[in-house]
Amino acid sequence: MEARLDTSTRYGPFAIALHWAMAVLLVALLALGWTMVSLPDVGYDTRKITLILVHKAMGMVALALVALRLSWRLRRPLPPLAGGLPQWQQVAARLVHLLFYALMFALPLTGWVMSSAGGYPIPFFGWFDVPDITGPNEWLFHRSIEVHRWLAWSLAALLVLHAGAAVHHHFVVGDDTLRKMLPD
Ligand code: HEM
Ligand code: HEM
Repeated sequence: MEARLDTSTRYGPFAIALHWAMAVLLVALLALGWTMVSLPDVGYDTRKITLILVHKAMGMVALALVALRLSWRLRRPLPPLAGGLPQWQQVAARLVHLLFYALMFALPLTGWVMSSAGGYPIPFFGWFDVPDITGPNEWLFHRSIEVHRWLAWSLAALLVLHAGAAVHHHFVVGDDTLRKMLPD
């Protein structure tokens, strides 16, 4: 059991599995989101609506996973950053992690608000409909679409920064940053 836990030096298998599963899921959601909105809005072509439904259900899975991830993170010690980092890099790395948590909640929540305010259902893979989080509200519907779009761009920008830093630390600096987030 202890082996599953994060320690004061590295991430444990549970945190690692969640990190990489969510990274794949979030990248897929970004790609799916941008693909589906670029498809034509024509009645005889149901591809757009199908992709939106898949996007919404997968987005709700991301919300459940980040809730699990945050509750795990709050209960376990946070492994320290690689030694010898200048202070600005330590602050930048922790700030990016914090912003990621905010975005991982804000993106699905604005999607949920958008669907509820617009009066659109969120079928969970045909199993059940996710309950509405708010009543119909035209103003909120349009604002949450705008916010959802900006949040998606912010996630993509931070991802480039974060992944770039991880790769730089591994191949250029040669420290343990990436190894801490990989299975033993
Ligand atoms: C972390 C989770 C999510 C990510 C990363 C994400 C990402 C995106 C992206 C990149 C777009 C395209 C934005 C654009 O127009 O440029 C989009 C659109 C959209 N998303 Fe999400 N999304 C997430 C969760 C959700 C959830 C949970 C829902 C609803 C339950 C949802 C509903 C929608 C809808 C309806 C659109 C189309 C909006 C429009 O017409 O422009 N999303 N999303
Ligand atoms: C959207 C995708 C991603 C998100 C939201 C994300 C989020 C996070 C968060 C919040 C942490 C802090 C630890 C935690 O609480 O789990 C973290 C750590 C880390 N991530 Fe990511 N990550 C993403 C993708 C990536 C990618 C693509 C890479 C590598 C190329 C990467 C490499 C790392 C590394 C090495 C750490 C450990 C940093 C340290 O503690 O020194 N991540 N990530």
